[in-house]
Amino acid sequence: MAVVKLENVCKYFGSTPAVQDFNLESCEGEFVVLVGPSGCGKSTTLRMIAGLEDMDSGTLSFDGRPMQDVPVQDREIAMVFQSYALYPHRNVFDNLAFALKLRRFPKTEIERRVRAAAQTLDIEPLLARKPRELSGGQRQRVALGRAIVREPEVFLMDEPLSNLDAKLRVSMRAEIAKLHRRIGVTTFYVTHDQVEAMTMGDRIVVMNGGVIQQVATPLALYDEPVNSYVAGFIGNPPMNFLSAEVGDDATRIHGPGFDFQIEPSLQQRLASLDSREVTIGFRPEHLKPSPVDAQSVMGTVQGTIELVEQMGSTTDIRFVVDGYPLIAELPRDQTLRVKESIELSLLEGRLHVFDKESGKRLNANAAVSRNQADSIRSMQPNGELASVGTDMRFRPD
Ligand SMILES: Nc1ncnc2c1ncn2[C@@H]1O[C@H](COP(=O)(O)OP(=O)(O)OP(=O)(O)O)[C@@H](O)[C@H]1O
Ligand SMILES: [Mg+2]
Repeated sequence: MAVVKLENVCKYFGSTPAVQDFNLESCEGEFVVLVGPSGCGKSTTLRMIAGLEDMDSGTLSFDGRPMQDVPVQDREIAMVFQSYALYPHRNVFDNLAFALKLRRFPKTEIERRVRAAAQTLDIEPLLARKPRELSGGQRQRVALGRAIVREPEVFLMDEPLSNLDAKLRVSMRAEIAKLHRRIGVTTFYVTHDQVEAMTMGDRIVVMNGGVIQQVATPLALYDEPVNSYVAGFIGNPPMNFLSAEVGDDATRIHGPGFDFQIEPSLQQRLASLDSREVTIGFRPEHLKPSPVDAQSVMGTVQGTIELVEQMGSTTDIRFVVDGYPLIAELPRDQTLRVKESIELSLLEGRLHVFDKESGKRLNANAAVSRNQADSIRSMQPNGELASVGTDMRFRPD
């Protein structure tokens, strides 16, 4: 169980920056998820922690011990990849035992570790089988078992579930989370699936274009995304965005088909902006059919229904406001019809306002600012996140 620390880590492939100025310090035993779109530098970051890829600059340490010059075989890490790459001609026991045999562990110790891992993963009855005689989920467990027997300080997992079908992925996701709780090894887990990130991570690192956008707990990311990129990436269905104009006295934000009151904490900030043009965002579940108790809403949005999706527990409405497609997640409703107009109210405190140019979120961070500030302070001595977006810098309030 190590504290893994990366400071100012950069990696280029030719002139292409794959990872830029990456700063992160894990807690002992933490489950850190790296999430972001394809090509954003997740695997490269993981491979640098493993020692499979050299860093161009910056430092890496485990529990304060510098690691950048330690070869991969001497780092106390175990990796699990998307392709489990089991040895097809060896049975499960030998697949689990292989790395330990290579390292010339005594036979009794190998036996002990393999049995313990098999028990943890519930694959004891499969030890004599060959990989081809296993289901996808069982193979994935064997791949995890191979990592566990190493008893590493750090687990590195790169999209370990992406070969599995959707249902199996959900159950293996829970298994990995339970496994982590049981053995408590510091884990870096890469995924491009924001649901996996939200459900598994103690903290989530959202990356884009090789740059950390935000590091925070799942709910902090969801409630107080640092910029419109994170806001749009986390959440399903995704956040709605609209171009909007701040009213003259900065008490209201409006545009064709919508008008919202602004909370006092935001009015001052908006009044000091150079431009009156902003981007606003609100989540589909924070829209309610009007009328709602006037005290609890910020205003309304009117549009035309394009699609009614019955999800069982909710009714999702896709509607258009001045040409922009939006989504509302409403209580079950049989009466809504395509092409009808609809008015929805936005619940109090649920409007996100972003700078139109930089995408930086302008709301004051209420509930989670301390949480976020703590994680950021641990990354940078001056309490400043390395970089947010491409040209934004974020200071916790
Ligand atoms: N060996 C390499 N040589 C050249 N460019 C590379 C190499 N490995 C990665 N890259 C580039 O570095 C960037 C980051 O790649 P990386 O594999 O870390 O992305 P990723 O976030 O893991 O993406 P994915 O979700 O598709 O796996 C990409 O632009 C990629 O094309
Ligand atoms: Mg990758």
